[in-house]
Amino acid sequence: MRGVHRRRLDANPGTSYLSAMAMRPILIAPDPRLKQKSTTVEVFDDELQRLIDDMFETMYEAPGIGLAAIQVGEPKRLLVIDLSREDEPKAPRVFINPEIVWTSADELSTYEEGCLSVPEQYAEVQRPARVRVTYKDREGKDHEEEMDGLLATCIQHEMDHLEGILFVDHLSLARRSMLMRKLAKSRKFARV
Ligand code: NI
Repeated sequence: MRGVHRRRLDANPGTSYLSAMAMRPILIAPDPRLKQKSTTVEVFDDELQRLIDDMFETMYEAPGIGLAAIQVGEPKRLLVIDLSREDEPKAPRVFINPEIVWTSADELSTYEEGCLSVPEQYAEVQRPARVRVTYKDREGKDHEEEMDGLLATCIQHEMDHLEGILFVDHLSLARRSMLMRKLAKSRKFARV
């Protein structure tokens, strides 16, 4: 997710050269791979650890506050989030096989959402204000946590990716079509 809390890039050429080694290209809508349903993570091996590290590099560089594995072309139920502001220490969080076990239902909150797979487009989306989520960490250990505020919105946005859903799918057809047209137009110009 690319939200209101946007990061500035760290202007250290040495660091960005090294981290460029681990960056992965982000799929951009309407790439059909973004529509697929991601599958459960069963094996917590070195390859998974590498993918997680690469996802953080890619998200920090973008810059974004959340990224699902499918956004770098890996259909795994894995997402990374860091909501720290640029003047705060990094606070990387990993959520594997997350499940929403409870929501605040009618108690909703609205955030202006953006997405690294829908660059430069933003829209207000309403979601349950609080959720309780079970998940595994990068070592495979089980956790359960109640979330509110931006974290609640961000994890719901990222978990939508695991089902092949983008934030624009929550908008009216007219609004979605308009955003996607604007996106297509800006991509066309970007490539020229
Ligand atoms: Ni997104």
